[in-house]
Amino acid sequence: MALHRLTQIVMGVPDVAATAAYYEDFGLTPTGGHAFATADGGEQLRVVHSERRRLLRLGVGADDPDDLDRVASSLAALDVAVERTATGVRAFDPGSEVTVEIGIAPRYEQPPTPAPPYNTPGVNARVGERAPGILRDHPVRPRKLGHVVLGSTDQAFSQRFFTDGIGFKVSDTVPGLAAFLRCSTDHHNVLVQQAPVAFLHHTSWQVDDVDEVGRGATAMLEKDPSRHVWGLGRHHVGSNFFWYLRDPAGNFSEYYSDLDCIVDDALWTPQVWEGARGLFRWGPPPPPSFLAPEDLAELMTGAHQPG
Ligand SMILES: [Fe+2]
Repeated sequence: MALHRLTQIVMGVPDVAATAAYYEDFGLTPTGGHAFATADGGEQLRVVHSERRRLLRLGVGADDPDDLDRVASSLAALDVAVERTATGVRAFDPGSEVTVEIGIAPRYEQPPTPAPPYNTPGVNARVGERAPGILRDHPVRPRKLGHVVLGSTDQAFSQRFFTDGIGFKVSDTVPGLAAFLRCSTDHHNVLVQQAPVAFLHHTSWQVDDVDEVGRGATAMLEKDPSRHVWGLGRHHVGSNFFWYLRDPAGNFSEYYSDLDCIVDDALWTPQVWEGARGLFRWGPPPPPSFLAPEDLAELMTGAHQPG
């Protein structure tokens, strides 16, 4: 039938213990061996050792073996080395240096989570009680892995790898940056941007609503204010609320809510977005380090050394 979601990522970092502790603070649930689960997606992150920070593996869930056969032949047509096993397809994108594994996985069955009642002019949806967002005191728990953003030394090929090869669809494009690609009903699951070195820009994790974005980031900053990168804001492309934080290795992690949802391809018109509008609709301006992380030069040096 189809691809339907991201499954799991393997992140390589120099200091596994420090990075693993960060993602536990972020609200992911440790499952042993520096692996972490989300509330609705099961185990979705594994942190392993690598000389430089990078995304090592990205899992994509498909419905049935026909999907795997289709992906294997499409990737082979791109002259990519493809490994077809009984349970999946594995291929390496040389631009982003990520190994993508497509395997059969169950679809998400997320418990319906109604939006909290918001009072608006003329509509008092909440009367005689305080807002749920101020009453919550439990730690924020991300519901699922939403998307990853990768730096690639060959953005054009990496994008073909994900679209023509694996079967991702283009939701929107920002010229000079990249295209937002989906393998599910989420507006985007992967974005690959041109970079002088292959690296992991950020991972993004779904939370219930904008209060959870704010509560999650606030709790992270109470422990260490230097984790702040960019937020709170609302993206234009994808529409989601966002707040980005930095892990000890330098990877950004994003809390997001209210992302655009594309169920019927015919009812979505991809657009081309220019300039800053492509990045955000409101919020503080992005810091320069969001566009070009401060450790890029260091990563480039590391990329030319063995390991
Ligand atoms: Fe994002």
